Amino acid sequence: MIIVGVDGSPNARTAVEWAADDAFRMRLPLRIVHAVDRSPYQIGKYPNVALPDVLLGEGRRILDEAEALARERQPTVEVETRDIEGAPAVVLREQAMEAAEMVVGSRGLGGFAGALLGSVSMHVAGHVHCPVVVVRGELRPVRGEIVAGVDDSPECEPALAYAFEQAKLRGSALRVVHAWQLPVHAFAPEAAYDMDEVRAAQHRIVRDRVEALRKDYPEVRVVEEALSAHPVDALTDASERADLLVVGSHGRGALGSLLLGSVSRGVLHHAHCPVAVVRA
Ligand SMILES: Nc1ncnc2c1ncn2[C@@H]1O[C@H](COP(=O)(O)OP(=O)(O)O)[C@@H](O)[C@H]1O
Ligand SMILES: [Mg+2]
Repeated sequence: MIIVGVDGSPNARTAVEWAADDAFRMRLPLRIVHAVDRSPYQIGKYPNVALPDVLLGEGRRILDEAEALARERQPTVEVETRDIEGAPAVVLREQAMEAAEMVVGSRGLGGFAGALLGSVSMHVAGHVHCPVVVVRGELRPVRGEIVAGVDDSPECEPALAYAFEQAKLRGSALRVVHAWQLPVHAFAPEAAYDMDEVRAAQHRIVRDRVEALRKDYPEVRVVEEALSAHPVDALTDASERADLLVVGSHGRGALGSLLLGSVSRGVLHHAHCPVAVVRA
């Protein structure tokens, strides 16, 4: 099942539309979840006992609206709703155990005005084991291309497999992007490289990654791209022309204890299209 978290915000509405479309593509049922968090209201000596009812009523309204939106968008998809008491990040994390995929908006109703990514989305993308799709703004017209970011670590394999699957289901092309940069040598700035050799090696990284999956997806047209740029810049640029950007949760550079690698975090903030984070 696909699970989408809603809080009544415009981005969460777009997340519902995206999730309904993907449920249709993947032939999976859709569950819409709203977490009702009363803890912020239980401050002071005499917490307002009437508040929870108001919150639950509001939660019901948010869920009804989201359900109507999903049904209108994809009438054949099976839809259910849940309102669950608890902190949204915790509720969604628990829900994710039952999910094949989780979808959230990039922003919610709270947070500070300039934030590019809300705390719930950040938490879910960092913790949940199934693929997490973060959707921002309004859905754009279909461009016919999925972009996957790959590096030279095995951690990106599940992300690439997910990207192939999405491209197949949508009949889209798949652009596989590997951005690389020479190490910066503070103490040996004169260190020299054979650039042709470096370029060939970087191209090989993309080719090897793609080769492993291509035979399973003969119908998907693949574009391989190795370019010298910062990965966040390269992927953000590519996202402008893409329907979905797919990244792993970690790369070679990340420490094991980090919840999200710097590239995953960077594209979650800056991408122009929905971003899927796929954990190994
Ligand atoms: N109470 C909630 N119940 C379910 N999902 C939620 C809830 N709050 C936020 N979400 C999900 O997380 C997304 C991002 O919201 P959030 O991280 O809270 O951003 P902000 O900090 O801007 O409020 C929302 O678009 C929605 O998909
Ligand atoms: Mg919020």
